[in-house]
Amino acid sequence: MATKAVLLVALSILSTIKSTVSASSFSPLRPPAIPLAVRSPYLNTWLDGDSGGILPGSWPRFWAGQITGWQGFVRVDNVTYNWMGGTCGPSLVNQTSFAYTATKSIFTFDVDGKIALTATFLSPVHPNDLLRQSMQFSYLQVSVESSDGNPHSIQIYSDISGGELSLSLAASDKSSSIKWSNGLDDDVAYHKFALAQPRVFTEEADMARWGDWYFGTTAGDGVTYRTGHSDTATREQFIGSGCLDNKVKEKHGPICDQWPVFAFSHDLGFVFKKKNVLFTIGIAQQQVINFQGSGTGSESLVGLWSTVYGSAVDCLAAFHSDWDVESQDALILDSKIHSNAYDIGGQDYASLTTLAVRQAFGSLQVAQGSRQSYLFIKEISSDGDIQTVDVIFPAHPIFLYLNPELLKLLLDPLFEHQESGHYPNTWSIHDLGLFPNAVGFPDGKDEAMPIEECSDMIIMTLAYALRSGNHQYLVKHWPLLNQWAQVLVNDSLIPAYQLSTDDFAGALANQTNLALKGIIGVRAMAEIARMSGIVNANELQLQYLETSAQYIQDWTMLGINNATKPPHATLAYNLPDTYGLLYNIYSDRLLDLDFVPEWVYTMQSNFYRTILGEYGVPLDTRRNWAKSDWQAFAAAVAEPEVRGAMHDRLTRFVEGTPTARPLTDLYDVTTGQFPKDGPSFINRPVLGAFFALLALPQR
Ligand SMILES: *[C@@H]1O[C@H](CO)[C@@H](O)[C@H](O)[C@H]1NC(C)=O
Ligand SMILES: *[C@@H]1O[C@H](CO)[C@@H](O)[C@H](O)[C@H]1NC(C)=O
Ligand SMILES: *[C@@H]1O[C@H](CO)[C@@H](O)[C@H](O)[C@H]1NC(C)=O
Ligand SMILES: *[C@@H]1O[C@H](CO)[C@@H](O)[C@H](O)[C@H]1NC(C)=O
Ligand SMILES: *[C@@H]1O[C@H](CO)[C@@H](O)[C@H](O)[C@H]1NC(C)=O
Repeated sequence: MATKAVLLVALSILSTIKSTVSASSFSPLRPPAIPLAVRSPYLNTWLDGDSGGILPGSWPRFWAGQITGWQGFVRVDNVTYNWMGGTCGPSLVNQTSFAYTATKSIFTFDVDGKIALTATFLSPVHPNDLLRQSMQFSYLQVSVESSDGNPHSIQIYSDISGGELSLSLAASDKSSSIKWSNGLDDDVAYHKFALAQPRVFTEEADMARWGDWYFGTTAGDGVTYRTGHSDTATREQFIGSGCLDNKVKEKHGPICDQWPVFAFSHDLGFVFKKKNVLFTIGIAQQQVINFQGSGTGSESLVGLWSTVYGSAVDCLAAFHSDWDVESQDALILDSKIHSNAYDIGGQDYASLTTLAVRQAFGSLQVAQGSRQSYLFIKEISSDGDIQTVDVIFPAHPIFLYLNPELLKLLLDPLFEHQESGHYPNTWSIHDLGLFPNAVGFPDGKDEAMPIEECSDMIIMTLAYALRSGNHQYLVKHWPLLNQWAQVLVNDSLIPAYQLSTDDFAGALANQTNLALKGIIGVRAMAEIARMSGIVNANELQLQYLETSAQYIQDWTMLGINNATKPPHATLAYNLPDTYGLLYNIYSDRLLDLDFVPEWVYTMQSNFYRTILGEYGVPLDTRRNWAKSDWQAFAAAVAEPEVRGAMHDRLTRFVEGTPTARPLTDLYDVTTGQFPKDGPSFINRPVLGAFFALLALPQR
């Protein structure tokens, strides 16, 4: 800790020497990319790291890299300044600080010493309110106040561009035609735009090809707008006059034809004390997921919001008007997460957990079927699969911690799909298809990870039942759970040549860590038998207890190298010179099984101490790679001192990584860069793993 503080002082001296422009502070740290509006796989806009974490001067981007085109100006005493976005011309305001919480990114700016401007991006997170979680909208609040003791004439401008769906990187799609309109509902003025020829359940470069985009603001005196006119003409109009001409362009056309924008301006008159302006940005999709559940054909699931609000505009207006409640709720959630994390793991742990929240929840889609609600999850950036079991698994601590019912809603589609006979293999399915089409693999040819997925399903189902008290869930899914347990009984002690969740590292036989997960799965099954109270429960419990006891004993002979100093678990049996992060031991503690011998925990803690690098503990001896999610699992059950050191290294990685994109979970452990010889993961929900420590039962 002491060395870190010294380093920070040294760095800040360095930066004052290097530049005379006022430097922004970053609290609690500067992440590689900053979430702006991140609520779903499609409303997912960031400020990438090439901006240096400075809002004005760079374009906000979709997580996959496309420019989304979101501009902000402020006019002070007839002079226009840029506080967000890449438009050339007006001078950039000076950013003085950036801070993030679980739900907010807050930037403050000094404008020529005359006023202070604050831009607060709030992306609500609602673990206990599915309806509000289902509304794909996000807030931007802009506040201004005088900072030199004089009142100033102030106008605030913001626009979003057809680029929200322009797929800016794919040239072919800039020619897509869009249509637009505007309107007023209650007190909310809004622009609406959409592709002229939408295709439901279709993505292009990860962006949705269907749904209506909205940009809204509080209507009232001083509000002017411009809809669908070119970006340059609209922005010049504001720069020149401080207001807009309230005109809608009649002729709709391709996005690349003059780059239409959707703009609002607020004339605040003379401002001395603080005044606020509120914007809402978002997408409304009536149909959200195509799901093959228990029916004979796939069902088109609707956004939960659409079952309550008569129209998307009503939903938008309700969201916008709810700012007071939403910001209060966000404050409560922010402080709960921060204080719980801080109390249990200190500042490093609080910095990590709070950063993970919007990234994890931004992968979710709340859907309503004819029988129930579901949560779907997108495996963002690596394949784009839907409902990937071994992506839900690393993420699941955040859901257990915030509300275990969320985990049930994620597991439900997997159970329903397989229990209705749509998957032919005896082991658990890997995923349900490509987001947003959860139609499964009737031919059984998904990416097979038998032991990984069977164990994940059993462990997560028990974790849910333990936290929620819903034992009936175990009874309901007993046949499938028992079938998967047979796979583990058959194959987990001596795992055949196969993939584990770390599939980017390749297949391998006899993986020590994978075997441990399978064996814990068998042990968990004894608990499930007991808690379910099904016929023969006692007998079955005993069988699973005996089998797992034998397996764990054998495993300590097969998977551990005692001859080396310090001893450690190997990457795979019969390879004494290898090692791997033994992150699967985490579930033993999570489920409170007291099953894996205590000396294995101690041994691993002692070993991690010896291989801890600048940016953490490597994943295994195959390559120089590290996984932040699995380190969070391993750290959660390590000895406190080692745990603290691992969290410290993860924090250093988040601060030091040159990746400049929404936080990756896979990186080169020495450089913090994306692995040279591996995939570049971005923005994956697996960061929910940072909550591993918080999800443990409190002893
Ligand atoms: C801003 O421009 C208006 C119109 O040209 C002018 O009346 C006003 O005095 C100007 N205000 C300032 C502070 O320069
Ligand atoms: C930003 O800060 C620099 C250095 O102090 C100053 O020269 C410049 O005028 C400031 N710009 C604004 C818009 O405040
Ligand atoms: C487990 O192995 C037995 C014996 O080889 C086999 O009959 C059974 O089908 C296997 N069960 C599963 C679920 O793979
Ligand atoms: C896996 O380990 C077992 C036990 O040591 C051994 O008998 C078997 O040959 C190994 N399998 C492979 C493919 O190396
Ligand atoms: C390593 O040591 C532990 C405890 O001393 C023991 O239980 C385990 O069986 C040993 N493993 C091997 C492979 O010798």
